[in-house]
Order: sequence, then structure tokens, then C-alpha cells
Amino acid sequence: MTARTARNAASIAATAFAALSVGVIGLSEVRLDRRYATPSASLAVRADPETVVRGRHVGDHIAQCSFCHGDDLAGKPAADDPWLGRLWAPNLTPGRGGLPRDYRDEDLARAIRNGVGRDGRSLRLMPSDQLRAMSEADLSAVIAWVRSAPPVAAERPASFAGPLTRLVLAAGLAPELLPAERIDHDAPPPPAPAPDPTPAYGEYLVGIGICRVCHRDDLGGGAHPLSLPDEPPPPDLTISGSLGGWSEADFLQTLRSGATPDGRPLDPVYMPWPRYAQMSETELRAVWAYLRTLP
Ligand code: HEC
Ligand code: HEC
Repeated sequence: MTARTARNAASIAATAFAALSVGVIGLSEVRLDRRYATPSASLAVRADPETVVRGRHVGDHIAQCSFCHGDDLAGKPAADDPWLGRLWAPNLTPGRGGLPRDYRDEDLARAIRNGVGRDGRSLRLMPSDQLRAMSEADLSAVIAWVRSAPPVAAERPASFAGPLTRLVLAAGLAPELLPAERIDHDAPPPPAPAPDPTPAYGEYLVGIGICRVCHRDDLGGGAHPLSLPDEPPPPDLTISGSLGGWSEADFLQTLRSGATPDGRPLDPVYMPWPRYAQMSETELRAVWAYLRTLP
């Protein structure tokens, strides 16, 4: 190859790469920019102490709001990587950098239930496709709890989608990244099952407890698209996994102590067991009853 053909080849490759990048950015932008119409919901949020306690239980111990948004709900990085991009779970307190003063309860409900922000776009990485199962009563209790958070000043750094995320979005993959895509926004919220140690109530708790975000949709485990770099692959939670030989007591003991029956510790950075440990006995038994029904 002469020097000139090499130069030509290099410039053709550079042009192709630039065209590809423009295509990838354009395609990913279509998904990021899509607007969703959500039915307006009227919501009665009571702020009495009992409701706030219930809201903390659902939001903190079950739905993991504080696992992602921070113990004080003042925000935390969800991703910060040159390839993936940067995205912080925002500050939900009324402090500087927190939810705007005119952010209404309905806006919170739409973020939780529809995964849609005030601009009508899908929120990114917020697991609303799971949280959507939340009953009216639990949703308004969670909102009352979020509203009770003391103000913390914490600005969120600007977000950007990195090249890897753009490629994945352009390829139509990773629906988990944009929860609003996975939601039927016109479907009414499902009725909440009675709080008994039944598979039906367990299914509800596994849903709003976002187990599927990490253990995958079929709870069969394996690395997930939101995996942190050093994260151990979340195990299979069905009978075919390592829980196959466990008893109900083994399961309760594992989630309460953070160690499996064979003494293996679970890393709380990846598996938020210290929060789940505060679920009631009835709730944990319900989760176990549901896991036993999985194929
Ligand atoms: C798996 C992590 C994760 C969990 C769990 C989670 N969030 Fe989020 N949440 C996020 C991220 C990341 C964003 C930022 C989305 C964006 O900017 O596109 C977000 C955005 C939000 C917003 C949008 C604020 C705005 O600017 O409109 C609200 C409100 C919110 N979350 C509330 C909650 C509540 C309440 C819970 C618990 C019921 C919760 N989140 C659970 C990660 C999470
Ligand atoms: C943020 C991600 C995440 C969420 C949410 C999550 N898990 Fe996990 N889970 C993991 C990871 C990662 C491990 C492996 C941890 C380790 O080995 O240190 C794990 C381990 C486990 C184990 C131990 C299994 C074994 O064979 O060792 C059980 C049981 C479990 N999870 C149940 C649940 C249940 C039930 C829920 C929902 C109520 C849930 N997890 C939610 C990430 C998660």
C-alpha cells in the first residue's frame, strides 16, 4: 500500500467512524428524548407520624430509595465513568440542590410510578418499572416520608451519557436504563394483596423491593446491565439456584444476618441486606413463599 492509499484509507475510516458516531448519538438521543404522556393522578398524602413511619419502612427497608438516593436522601452517584457516563440519583430533600420548591406530590408519584420527570422524559436508571406495583396507600406513605426529610444542601453534578451507554441505547438494548419505555402508562395501579405470608404478598414485595433490578426479570440471576465494576453476579433465587436446599428459616437468617447457611457473607455494597433485614417476619416469609413458586 502506498502512503497515499494508506492516508485515503485512514480518512475513509475516520469519516465512517464520524458518521457512525453521529448515527449512534442520534439514535440514542431519540430514546433519551422521547416524551411520555401520563394520566394525571389525584393523591391524598397524609403527613401524620404513623404514615411517615410506614413510608420509611416501605421506602427505606423495602423499595431501597435510600440505597440509591443516600441515607439522608441527599443524592448519590449511580454511575460515574467516562464510558458509561455520569448520573446521580438526585437530592430529594428540600435543601439547596434538592427538589424544587414547586415540586408537587403528583410529580413525586409520577417519578415513582411512571418513571417520568417533569419534562415528560423517562428518568434514567430509576427502577419505576418495578416500583410501579406500589399500592396507593404505600405510595402516599413513601411520599409523606420523602417530604419529611430534613433539608440537605447538595448539588448534583451534570449528567451525560457516555459512548458505551449511547451504543447500547442506539442498539435498542438495556430497557432497564429507561424505565418509562417498559411501562403501560394507561394501566391502572394493581390492587395490593393482603399483608399475609402468602406468595401473592411476596410477589408484591419482590416487585417493589426491586429484587429484579439485580437478580434479573426471571430472578435467575447473572450479571445485569447496571452491574458495578466489581459486583459479584447476583445469584439465582429460584429453586434451581443455591437456595434450592434452603429452609424458610435459612432464608430469614440470611437476610437478617447477611450470611448464607454455609457462612458466606453477603457484601452490603452490592446486596442491600441490612435494609431488607428490617422487613417484618411476615414480609420475609411472604417473599420466601413467593420465591418457592418460581419455576
Ligand atoms: C436503583 C437506584 C434507585 C432507586 C432504588 C430509586 N431511585 Fe429514584 N432515581 C434514581 C436515579 C439514578 C434518578 C435520576 C434519573 C434521571 O435524572 O434521569 C432518580 C430520580 C428520582 C426522582 C426524580 C426527581 C426529578 O428530578 O424529577 C425522584 C422523585 C425519585 N428518584 C424518587 C425515588 C423514590 C421515592 C424512591 C423509592 C421509592 C427511589 N427514587 C428509588 C435511582 C433510584
Ligand atoms: C442492588 C442489587 C441487589 C438487589 C436490589 C437485591 N439483591 Fe440479592 N444479591 C445481590 C448480589 C450482588 C448478591 C451476591 C452478594 C455477594 O455474594 O456478596 C445477592 C445475594 C442474594 C442472596 C444470597 C443468595 C446466595 O445463594 O448466596 C439472596 C437470598 C438474595 N440476594 C435475595 C434478594 C432478595 C429477596 C431481594 C429483594 C427483596 C434482593 N436480593 C435484592 C444483589 C441484589
